[in-house]
Amino acid sequence: MSGAGGRAAVVAGLGGWVPPTAVTNDALARELDTSDEWIRTRTGIARRHVVDPGTATGDLAVEAGRRALRSAGTDAADVVVLATSTPDRPCPATAPEVASRLGLTGVCAFDIAAVCTGFVYALGVSAGLVASGFARSVLVIGADTFSTILDPADRTTRAIFGDGAGAVLLRAGDPDEPGALRGLQLGSDGSRSDLIQVAAGGSRQRSTGLPAEEAATYFTMDGRPVFAEAVRHMAASVEATAAALGGTPADVDRIVLHQANARILAAVAERVGVPLERFPSNIERVGNTVAASVPLVLADAVADGVLRPGQRVVLGGFGGGLTWGSVGLVWPETTPG
Ligand code: COA
Repeated sequence: MSGAGGRAAVVAGLGGWVPPTAVTNDALARELDTSDEWIRTRTGIARRHVVDPGTATGDLAVEAGRRALRSAGTDAADVVVLATSTPDRPCPATAPEVASRLGLTGVCAFDIAAVCTGFVYALGVSAGLVASGFARSVLVIGADTFSTILDPADRTTRAIFGDGAGAVLLRAGDPDEPGALRGLQLGSDGSRSDLIQVAAGGSRQRSTGLPAEEAATYFTMDGRPVFAEAVRHMAASVEATAAALGGTPADVDRIVLHQANARILAAVAERVGVPLERFPSNIERVGNTVAASVPLVLADAVADGVLRPGQRVVLGGFGGGLTWGSVGLVWPETTPG
């Protein structure tokens, strides 16, 4: 992933943000036919945070982006890439407005939609922009507000998903220095696009003019096959990145995965033969925050002292599309902003 002049993208700053309103399992159980016990044992989630009406994905992205810039000790970036599947509106992209609000007027800014793999895809694309010499720095943000697209009556998705944002500032550096991204692996399988989707609202299935109950604009997920595919692809992706780094998953100190379900993390750990203790997790506190998940768990793991400078790390994700991917690095000195 280093470019012609030996340039690599290096992690220089990190930040995360969740909205203040927390919804506990007990609060969900007062509204839906579910229980704290069911949600904890099937998912590992105790609470999730949700935006209040009037707060949008872009607002969370600005907060996380500001923190990542502060963590890197800068107020500049050449590019802003926003991974999200809940943009502020279908068109235009949310990233240009986020860039402007961060004072980054005039920079290249665009969205990436790869659902829960969005942040890893965005890291990969951004690393290419740095390696090519196009950009000296890229602010990579993952932000989603799935609470705004969930069916209020769907006890499964309501239990799993939460809102949040996380961000990393990448700068041009040396491929051998701590923080340099290496061993990128990305993939997709569009034949399973129906497993995780919002069916309508795009050009395939029009929702305009229909009553709400026919509009099919809520998010839907087929949980069982998603579980199996998530385990299979995240395990294979982590193995591919570990191999590209010259080893196996057992040589990696911390495997930082998209927080979909605590049981998915355990199943991946078993499949790649690495103790679960090496998989940092914050799912109990925030649930599945989609594109925000990987940078949020990174920020929490650093703050908790679980992820330390010098450790060999693989970051990985899986999500709708289907999409998956991972990338490796040696964790650099960082303080979340
Ligand atoms: N509370 C109580 N019961 C619930 C429930 C809830 N919140 N959600 C689902 N159930 C019920 C189901 O309706 C089903 O009832 P039935 O047997 O009467 O039909 C029962 O629990 C078992 O459902 P099942 O889907 O077999 O449970 P599971 O153990 O597979 O767990 C998921 C369901 C959704 C937690 C699990 O499949 C999962 O985590 N899938 C992956 C989701 C994910 O990570 N998505 C994002 C990917 S990026």
